[in-house]
This record gives sequence, structure tokens and C-alpha cells, in this order.
Amino acid sequence: MSAKVVAIIGSPRNGRTLGIVKQFEQCLKKLGNIDFEYVFLKDVDLKACRGCGACLEKGEEYCPLKDERTDIFMKMMQADGVIFASPVYSLQVTALLKNLLDRLAYVFHRPCFFHKTFMPIVTQGVYGYEGVLKYLAEVARFWGFKTCPGLGLTVAWEKPLPAEQQKYDLETAKAAQRFFSYLTSNTDSIPSLKEVVIFRSVRAVHSIEAGLARDYRYYKEQGWLEADYFYPTRISWYKQIIGRWVEKQTIKQALKAKRAL
Ligand SMILES: Cc1cc2nc3c(=O)[nH]c(=O)nc-3n(C[C@H](O)[C@H](O)[C@H](O)COP(=O)(O)O)c2cc1C
Repeated sequence: MSAKVVAIIGSPRNGRTLGIVKQFEQCLKKLGNIDFEYVFLKDVDLKACRGCGACLEKGEEYCPLKDERTDIFMKMMQADGVIFASPVYSLQVTALLKNLLDRLAYVFHRPCFFHKTFMPIVTQGVYGYEGVLKYLAEVARFWGFKTCPGLGLTVAWEKPLPAEQQKYDLETAKAAQRFFSYLTSNTDSIPSLKEVVIFRSVRAVHSIEAGLARDYRYYKEQGWLEADYFYPTRISWYKQIIGRWVEKQTIKQALKAKRAL
């Protein structure tokens, strides 16, 4: 089995986070034929989002910033697996990684990373990785990824003690195995009730063309205006019922708001 993986490194230095990702790469390469590529956000030309909203409203090609955003996006699109790695900075991802998320915010509107595996790798000094892992996993789910439980580690500034190193080795090897099994599995994640409800309510707004026209066209092209979800999957009866009800209510409210204009 061979696969392409891209690791986006959000740390502004070649420090502990990179060390963990390198270790993860070695473990992963023992499991299969993996082409592992790095993108160092500290070294790429990725300007700060200006918040004009052109990507959301008109399309990503209307972004006024000319830099390497599309190259990074294409690397992610061409990969089977994507890693976002970041140290915890003030209980969040680093500004470098947050800027990438903002620059790709149009993907929340027009998700496109289906059938690809995602895993977050987060290091902390003391506290915060749980929240950051959860945050990155949620972003990735919105973007369409199959999200694998992440790797969070507490690391010291100085060289780790042998017992600490043993813990990193074990946790990193386990994470690589998790990632590999997601990567090699053909099954997509089963959507949660929340995901079904979000899909249905967003699609409801698009279906009456109350949404952003660009998003409406995208949903139409993908066949999502008639589908049960973004991709064929098993959705239990109660999620279907609640989803349909929410969709009807959303349409009702949107029509009412339109009439009131
Ligand atoms: C600006 C800054 C903010 C930080 N904020 C946190 C934090 O909120 N929680 C925490 O546990 N560690 C925090 N740390 C520590 C880093 O998360 C930790 O040292 C990390 O392993 C560094 O990764 P690196 O070696 O890849 O830079 C912070 C470090 C810096 C430089």
C-alpha cells in the first residue's frame, strides 16, 4: 500500500513539535510505502487574511492576496492524508496555523477534502492540547476530512528524560498506527447528529437560493441539494427524521425572512 501524506508545520521554529512529527514520519514509514512531505508555514509566503470575505462570497480565486495559498491547498488536495502540527500558543494553535485556517475559510462553505484522512499533532508546555486537538478535529470535519484521533504531548523545553522519551515513543507509534489504519480504510466517518443537522440546514438555505450564490452553485454541482449527506453513508433513522425536520424549519424561517424584506 502506498500513500501520500503532507504535514503542515505551524511552529515558528524547528523545535519539539517538528521533532515529534519526524518521529511520527519514521513510525508511519515502517507501516507502508509513505511519501511524506513537509510544509513549513514559517517559510512559505502566506499573507495575513484581510477579512474582505471575497473568497467566501465570490470565490477563492477572488482573494486579493497573491502568495502560496493555492500551492498549499493543492498539496492538501493531492494528498491521501494531512497532518496539522502546532505547539499550543496561548491555549490555541500558533498564529501561523490560524492564518492558514482563515485563508482557507472558504472550505467551510464549500468542503472538498472528502475521503482524506486528517490528524492533528499538538505539543504543550503545561496545558491546552486537548482543546486545540478538539478544535482542529472540528475544523477538519467541517472541511470534509475523515478525522483520526490526534496526538497530544506535554514536552519540556530541555532534552527529555529517558522516561519521558519512552512515553513520546509509545504515544507517537500508537498515533502512527491509528493514522495508518484510517489511511488504509475505505470507510468514511459516519456523520454525527450535529453534522447531519448542519448539512441539512445549510443546504436548506442554499436550496431556496437565499445562501451565497457561489455556495449554491457548488452544492448543486456536487448533487448535495438532493443528497442525504455530502457522501454516501449510513445515517440512522432518528438522524434522518431530525435532519428533515430541521431542514423544513430552516426553509420556513428563510421564506418568512424573505417575505419580510
Ligand atoms: C508564545 C508562546 C505561548 C505558549 N502558550 C502555551 C500555552 O498556552 N499552554 C502551554 O501548555 N504551553 C504554551 N507554550 C509552550 C509551548 O506550547 C511548548 O513549549 C511547545 O512544545 C513548543 O513547541 P516548539 O518547540 O515546536 O516551538 C507557549 C509557548 C510560546 C512560545
